[in-house]
Amino acid sequence: MYKIFIKPFLFLKNPEPAHYFAFNWIRRMFKAPGVSSITRSLFHFSHKELETECFGLKFPNPVGLAAGFDKDARLFDELSAFGFGFIEIGTLTPKGQDGNPKPRLFRLPDDRSLINRMGFNNEGVEAAIERLRNKKTGVLIGGNIGKNKVTPNDQAVEDYLYCYNALEPYVDYFVVNVSSPNTPNLRELQDKEPLTALLNTLQLRKKEIGAKQPILLKIAPDLTESQLTDIIDIVKTTGIDGVIATNTTISREGLKTPKETIDQIGAGGLSGAAVTDRSTEVIRYLHQHSGGAFPIIGVGGILTAADAIAKLEAGASLVQVYTGFIYEGPSMVKKINKGILRWKKAQQKV
Ligand code: FNR
Repeated sequence: MYKIFIKPFLFLKNPEPAHYFAFNWIRRMFKAPGVSSITRSLFHFSHKELETECFGLKFPNPVGLAAGFDKDARLFDELSAFGFGFIEIGTLTPKGQDGNPKPRLFRLPDDRSLINRMGFNNEGVEAAIERLRNKKTGVLIGGNIGKNKVTPNDQAVEDYLYCYNALEPYVDYFVVNVSSPNTPNLRELQDKEPLTALLNTLQLRKKEIGAKQPILLKIAPDLTESQLTDIIDIVKTTGIDGVIATNTTISREGLKTPKETIDQIGAGGLSGAAVTDRSTEVIRYLHQHSGGAFPIIGVGGILTAADAIAKLEAGASLVQVYTGFIYEGPSMVKKINKGILRWKKAQQKV
């Protein structure tokens, strides 16, 4: 139904207006009586074997919605009806900001991919909190935090700390995002020294207030092996709870879309099928070279159950989707969960 009726209609629109159209449409639909429970009955898939304990949290299934889709925490209750095991809001910054000039989101249908240079457009952490206060469902929420564009990197710690303190009562886990390619110089915070300082500050604060929520680090797929080795050291020395691998890539390798189109689009992070293999490689490297010392959430180009299973086989404990949700539609969540269940059962027989 999504691929035959809804997607062709949405794909007639420019990608960002299409996103808001679908968003508002879902919100309005869910106001009608019964829509929430009908959606749940159509899209939810529960099974004991899919329940996953990770970072001290109990996930009803291992398939989550990645950051960036519900940046301002406007739709998490409704989105949970599509069967996600968890939903990550953000990236949120202390103050609201517009992000980069439009157009800033582009489809590459031949590659089942997207390029975005949104630039952390969000209404700011306080606006999100107002909505989180009215949460109606029990869905697990991740709070993905970043810094404002105008904040220089040497003061970035204060922005992350601000968001951490503000969101602490409302989220189930935190994600420190230092890997978006769309905020100038942000990715320099992935270097060993500033990253260690940032994570130590957050860990200290967590201890001071006796907070329980795990803190995860979200990394780029463009890190070299030596940078990934540094990440493993940093996770171990700071004692954070895990890693989300990966964000979008700045690489444009191996695309079917003509080079002129890609050049016209310009800067931004590439997501979807074009990043599937690289993101899985990063997960495998982290898992193997750390000896499985910390949990990993695998994200990047999951469009099918096989893509999700490849991430789990590489060492991920949970997975997330974004671009796949746009191309495959809401039924993908159930399909992936069913595929993971079959894979788990087959493993038990071996
Ligand atoms: C993103 N992503 C993202 N990640 C993040 O940590 N904070 C953010 O604000 C955003 N914003 C965002 C906007 C758009 C339009 C896209 C397509 C992506 C990255 C996203 O969470 C994910 O890590 C990557 O997109 C890779 O996964 P998929 O999309 O290939 O499943």
